[in-house]
Amino acid sequence: MARAVPEVALQHGDERARPMPAVGMGTAEFPVVPERTRGAVLAALEVGFRHFDTAVLYGTEAALGDALVEAARRGLLASREEAFVTSKLWCTQCHADLVLPSLRESLRNLQMEYVDLYLIHWPISVKPGPIVLQAKKEDAVPFDFEGVWRAMEECHRLGLAKAIGVSNFTTKHLDNLLAVATIPPAVNQVEMNPVWQQKTLREYCAKKGIHVTAYSPLGGQNWRGDNNNVMESPVLAEIARARGKSVAQVSLRWIYEQGVTPIVKSYNKERLKQNLEIFDWELTEDDHRKINQIPQKKIVTAALLFSPGGEFTSIDFSDIEIVEE
Ligand SMILES: NC(=O)c1ccc[n+]([C@@H]2O[C@H](COP(=O)([O-])OP(=O)(O)OC[C@H]3O[C@@H](n4cnc5c(N)ncnc54)[C@H](OP(=O)(O)O)[C@@H]3O)[C@@H](O)[C@H]2O)c1
Repeated sequence: MARAVPEVALQHGDERARPMPAVGMGTAEFPVVPERTRGAVLAALEVGFRHFDTAVLYGTEAALGDALVEAARRGLLASREEAFVTSKLWCTQCHADLVLPSLRESLRNLQMEYVDLYLIHWPISVKPGPIVLQAKKEDAVPFDFEGVWRAMEECHRLGLAKAIGVSNFTTKHLDNLLAVATIPPAVNQVEMNPVWQQKTLREYCAKKGIHVTAYSPLGGQNWRGDNNNVMESPVLAEIARARGKSVAQVSLRWIYEQGVTPIVKSYNKERLKQNLEIFDWELTEDDHRKINQIPQKKIVTAALLFSPGGEFTSIDFSDIEIVEE
């Protein structure tokens, strides 16, 4: 039977909008195989996921949309309103006049009239061009916080995005944004897990009413073949043994107990199911004390977004760096 998942009401969201389910399914996988994504989303719906995270960058919007149409046809979803869908604006579209067309393109891909949440993917703007992961350093341009955010607000007003937010924003980027925002961001999606706990950012977001969602909650997909410091953590392994849970579940439960919503990617039905089985047990104070002492290491940095060589000609790199203590 599908599991019931708690929900979070987003501040500044549309009052009629669906609350955000407290665990989301990630859909970033490279290379993209649409049939795999489609099958995984249907499996996720069967075990109880109703919150899906995509981005124009991932190339998974169309497969996610197809899966949701198929789910409605099969009766797995009563209506579109039952699903909570997030998509994201890529760096090449972070220009005031490109935001609305980009969201419209995402909606066409998704076969939807609105997304539940639309995020600025990175606090980085590069010259308009193809939607690819790596940019040339010389193509980076200063981020127009006011112009881009006004356009995001327009997407919200038009009802095309029930809530709007950001991703990979540090407190410095949020300061810049809040100085010009009429509608404050509802969400900041950032890398967060027991090995990169984001304490400063979380305190800041709590004060400003910005809900934090956690990407790479299991330490990510090891694109570069590095160790996975979350899944291989001896501290988490010991807690998992004591609680009779998996390391993945301990990490997801810890994130949930911080008031943060994990966005976890699995395309495996058993692991999808396991990733929702985190709501009927708790970590102890001692578990929290041990997790708080885990040495910290971030995986994703702004530099990863740029191909080697070339120079930053028009921006100061410190303006776009996303690592902060
Ligand atoms: N905003 C951003 O800049 C940003 C950046 C990165 C990611 N994201 C979003 O966040 C999502 C999640 O982050 P992520 O994909 O980096 O990594 P993640 O969710 O931390 O880890 C995913 C990896 O863990 C495996 N896995 C999942 N559940 C498991 C379990 N219960 N036990 C053991 N292994 C398990 C998955 O393999 P299987 O599929 O084989 O289970 C996959 O290899 C992405 O898919 C994307 O939607 C956003």
